[in-house]
Amino acid sequence: MAVSYKSLGLSNSRDVFKRAMAEKFAVPAYNFNNMEQLQAIITACVETRSPVILQVSSGARKYANQTMLRYMAEGAVKMAREMEKEKGCETAIPIILHLDHGDTFELAKSCVENGFSSVMIDGSGLPYEENIALTRRVVEYAREHDVSVEGELGVLAGIEDEVKAEASTYTRPDQVVDFVGRTGVDSLAISIGTSHGAYKFKPEQCTRDERGVLVPPPLRFDILEEIERRLPGFPIVLHGASSVIKEAVETINRYGGAMKDAVGVPEAQLRRAAASAVCKINIDTDGRMVMTAEVRKVFAEKPAEFDPRKYLGPARAALVEMYKRKNREVLGSAGRYGPEVA
Ligand code: G3H
Ligand code: 13P
Ligand code: ZN
Repeated sequence: MAVSYKSLGLSNSRDVFKRAMAEKFAVPAYNFNNMEQLQAIITACVETRSPVILQVSSGARKYANQTMLRYMAEGAVKMAREMEKEKGCETAIPIILHLDHGDTFELAKSCVENGFSSVMIDGSGLPYEENIALTRRVVEYAREHDVSVEGELGVLAGIEDEVKAEASTYTRPDQVVDFVGRTGVDSLAISIGTSHGAYKFKPEQCTRDERGVLVPPPLRFDILEEIERRLPGFPIVLHGASSVIKEAVETINRYGGAMKDAVGVPEAQLRRAAASAVCKINIDTDGRMVMTAEVRKVFAEKPAEFDPRKYLGPARAALVEMYKRKNREVLGSAGRYGPEVA
């Protein structure tokens, strides 16, 4: 039997994006695949009073089981509400459950029927007219359920389990008005130089600073500005927005990892994007890396430990701190639903 997100206490993206646009911040969209990641995201966003998008990829659905993920999200809402009550919060943070990079109508439909409040249909790898047709079909179905839809124009480079593209193609500003008008999407993911994963730029695309650290080429803010000019007030989404935190790379490498030349998007550029029409910023890789760094550290320093709580616990605590910092210093989403609580 179909379940509506409304009965689970979730929100769609409409009001949250309106607010993000008016107040010039971006809503964090954090991916999760397991309990510790989800607990960390909820704890950080409740404590910083930030709205949050809980993001589920097709890979996450395969890994964790779609039914399990649905109930985890329901549990996450309950956990958030209990924390808010305990801490005396006067408002509730909006929590959105979102399908990341949906690639078929059937997948998007199944998510809508299983309590998702927002879906992405990523037809960016298709020819333009096919992208429009697929996206339009998802929008028509999702609208009947008041579920938000994110579409994508332009291709991000990067290789991950489910998202593969060798080279990026920047979004063409001359297509955005037509695409949004004909599909009816609620938000649009664009390609302006970000990409998925931990190796966003090849070393030869970067320069090196005085310490030899890779400095990536800047994002194409000129394209973003042109899109904003053509679609005033319309919510834009930035994928591939992990910064590949230097300390996490160093810790991973210090404790036996091999992540040479990993490089992400500098946080200053994300701050600039968050203050523009970019209303949603997707971060997955940074969470993966912070978690891996902590687990590696425990394994190296306490080789006798074998209780998963002893390495996943510190990893979860490090994630909470990282997400809080992102909300405060990068997205500007902290403190939007009341003053921060410890
Ligand atoms: O955009 C892709 C996300 O980072 C999800 O990655 O497909 O490996 O779960 P995944
Ligand atoms: P990162 O790989 O940069 O974290 O991007 C995540 C993403 O875009 C999920 O859709
Ligand atoms: Zn993405």
